[in-house]
Parts: sequence; structure tokens; C-alpha cells
Amino acid sequence: MNLAVADLNPKQFQKISAMVYRTAGINLKEGKEALVRARLMKRLRFLGMSRVEDYIDFIDSDRGSGEVAALIDVMTTNKTSFFREVDHFHFLREQVLPGMNTSRVRFWSAACSSGEEPYSLAILLREHLPAIERKDVRILATDISRRMLDKALQAVYPQDAVDEVPTPAYRKYFTVRRNDRSGSCQIAAEACALVHFAHLNLMDPWPMKGLFQVIFCRNVMIYFDRPTQQELINRFWDFLEPGGHLFVGHSEGLSSVKHRFRYVRPAVYQK
Ligand SMILES: C[S@@+](CC[C@H](N)C(=O)[O-])C[C@H]1O[C@@H](n2cnc3c(N)ncnc32)[C@H](O)[C@@H]1O
Repeated sequence: MNLAVADLNPKQFQKISAMVYRTAGINLKEGKEALVRARLMKRLRFLGMSRVEDYIDFIDSDRGSGEVAALIDVMTTNKTSFFREVDHFHFLREQVLPGMNTSRVRFWSAACSSGEEPYSLAILLREHLPAIERKDVRILATDISRRMLDKALQAVYPQDAVDEVPTPAYRKYFTVRRNDRSGSCQIAAEACALVHFAHLNLMDPWPMKGLFQVIFCRNVMIYFDRPTQQELINRFWDFLEPGGHLFVGHSEGLSSVKHRFRYVRPAVYQK
């Protein structure tokens, strides 16, 4: 039995990609056959299955009720890094944090992957938010991938990921773990304490009550089609305080959707 070369015919591709789109908004419909096949094979191998039709029977059956989430998880692209698109962090440090004088501070990292983005925000806030010790500060970090959230919660990263952290002042929040030959690093408790991770599919209703001053939704909207992006942008508007900032990925921008935000600088918008 060769588990690596199961075939994916056009009908099966359509069925799988429609399921992913319907559930997570991820648009794998056109030209993405090779990617879907490679990621699906990973899942089949994990389940010890060799034929896509067996997998489809499984996911359609009662036994497979939890499988859709696992399928979505394997289909997501989770690439991220500390202080990714560092301009955003400079902008926050220079233009947003100095004027943040409310006692309640709420940020949202709306597709946080394995946690590098919200931990970078936590470090930035620890270093540059005036009077942080007297404020009620929380960074909500959500993602659809439970696999990534589990990783994020551990707050342990390989040394080469930490090497990307731009300044020594920020690197002091990482400690090389004792008795760990690989040299992986643990994030300091004072940074972790600001971050609250939760599972959230952006396509579902958002249960959060209060408004945010800052929302990061970076490098996820590229996987959504325009109507989905449009809906998300409208919803982010509703979840931001007046004057609050929305950050998207530098390759995303809002030029293809209608919105009421003020353009501030590339990939930064203000309500
Ligand atoms: C490429 S990563 C971006 C991580 C981080 N924001 C950054 O810019 O480095 C995209 C993340 O979006 C998540 N994602 C994809 N579809 C989602 C959805 N419908 N709801 C929530 N998260 C989703 C994926 O699981 C993945 O972790």
C-alpha cells in the first residue's frame, strides 16, 4: 500500500475545496489542486488511509464528525514570525502607544497562528506602553487552527526564530530553556500574561463584548475571496473603537473592498 500517492480527481478536489471554503472562507478553488493534494495526503497518511474516496466517506459519516476541523487545520498556511512586517510595530511604538491614556487597553491578533504576532505585541506593550503597570491590558489572540494555538500556548520557540527579534531590549523576553539541547527559548511570563488565546473561526459570530483599540488581521485575508474580505472589513469596523487602528498584511490592502476607514500608511487604517 503506497500511502503517499493517492490520487485526487477533479470531483474530489471540488468537494474538499468547497468544504474548506464553506467552513473557513479559505479559497482553494482555482489553481490550487497541487496544494490541496499535498496537504490532504498529509492528513491521509496520519489516518493511515490510502484512498481519497475512503477519506471522503469517512468525513461524510457520523464517525467523521470531528474531521472537518482537522481538514481545515491541515489546509491552513501558518507562516509567521516575530515582529513580522516590522514597520507596523514601529508605527505602534511611535504613533499609537504614546497617546494611549485609557486604563483599559485591548488589542486583537485575529489570525495569530503559532503566537509570534501576539507575543511581539505583548513585548512591544511591555516596553513602550506608558504606565502599563497601572493599566488593564489584554491582547486577544485567536486562530482557527487548534494545532497552532497549542503551539502558541507553550510559548517556546527555536533559537533561529528568536534571532529575528529586532533589538536586544526585546530579546530579553526570551530565555534559553535549561536542559534543552536544541536551545529553544521560553517567552517571559510578564509577556505571556498579557496574551489570551482562544479558538475562533473568523467566519463564525464573534462573541467578544468590548471594542478594541488595535486589530491585527494580517496575512489571512489573502486566502479569502472578495465578498468574504468585504464582510470581514465591515465587521472589524464594528469591533474597533473610534480612532482605533486596523493593521492588515502589506500584500493585502483594502483597495478592492468598500470601507469607511481612513488610510494612514501602507496596510494601516484608522476608524
Ligand atoms: C499566514 S498565517 C498569518 C499569521 C500572522 N497573522 C502573521 O501575519 O504572521 C494565517 C493564519 O490564519 C489562520 N486562518 C485561516 N483561516 C481562518 C479563519 N477562517 N478564521 C481564523 N483564522 C484563520 C490560519 O490558521 C493561519 O494560522
